[in-house]
Amino acid sequence: MKPIPLILDCDPGHDDALAMILAAHNPALKLLGITTVSGNGGITKVTLNARRVATLARINVPIAEGAGKSILGAFEEANDIHGESALDGAELPTPSMELSELHAVDLIAKLIRESSEPVTLVATGPLTNVALFLKMYPDLKSRIKEIVFMGGSASRGNRTPYAEFNIWMDPEAADVVLRSGLALTMCGLDVTHQALVTSKVFTRLQEIGTPLSETIIGLLKFFAKTYDEVFEMPDPPLHDPVAIALLIDRTVVKSRFVNVQTELNGTLTRGATVVDIHGRLGENANCNVALELDADKFWEMMLDAIKKAGVTK
Ligand code: BDR
Ligand code: CA
Repeated sequence: MKPIPLILDCDPGHDDALAMILAAHNPALKLLGITTVSGNGGITKVTLNARRVATLARINVPIAEGAGKSILGAFEEANDIHGESALDGAELPTPSMELSELHAVDLIAKLIRESSEPVTLVATGPLTNVALFLKMYPDLKSRIKEIVFMGGSASRGNRTPYAEFNIWMDPEAADVVLRSGLALTMCGLDVTHQALVTSKVFTRLQEIGTPLSETIIGLLKFFAKTYDEVFEMPDPPLHDPVAIALLIDRTVVKSRFVNVQTELNGTLTRGATVVDIHGRLGENANCNVALELDADKFWEMMLDAIKKAGVTK
């Protein structure tokens, strides 16, 4: 099978960093580029982190910086979970690769134009860049195979009681994506809360025994500490790589094709994704919603990518 061409739009971020590694080091995928969006940290921080992780994990694709604020101009960081740098917990290398001169949205357009096949967009941060791309380059919509995004939830949230962080950060952008008419897959908290970094995972990381796996252990220990403090979850959920794993093997998740809308108002529920599992609103289905994870299969893929990324040639 030909590898699937994809672009990863992310806000690294501990779990974004691991999503980068999985996207770059699995033979079923062809990573074309990485773009950044503010979310877990401000745009300068997350762009630096993306370049650091790319250097650390031998990822040689163009990286471009994108939106620093939501469509309506909002900005906040997730220091409580990801720390001051947005990627606390280990020493990371000085980046060796250049930053693209293009804005993220323009790099996405360029890579899609240059690709001989339709491209999959994976978003593991707020959907700002993706929404801007859809508005600025409507002629390229037909060149998108699918948009897979980590965000939302069919039940409760994590940034507010009902809003998941990525959707909360830019609900208007999520609304643009959900109304785009494109093939969509949502990887929300329902499924990502099944990708837990357990003590068994830490043991397997230790067994890999490369400088990269050591660095990842440091990062994930920090992530486990903050998740325990904030959410009473000592085994933290590794959200973002799930959105990549399902491209490698669709059987890693079980999904339902249903109607999903974003709450843009709501006194207490702005940013919530309204996932109509039983079709009670009578609206057309617009999104595949991943609900169940084969965690063993997921971890095999993730750990294999970490092994491959850590091999020095
Ligand atoms: C999402 O929010 C961020 O903190 C993570 O990187 C993930 O993309 C989980 O709600
Ligand atoms: Ca993220």
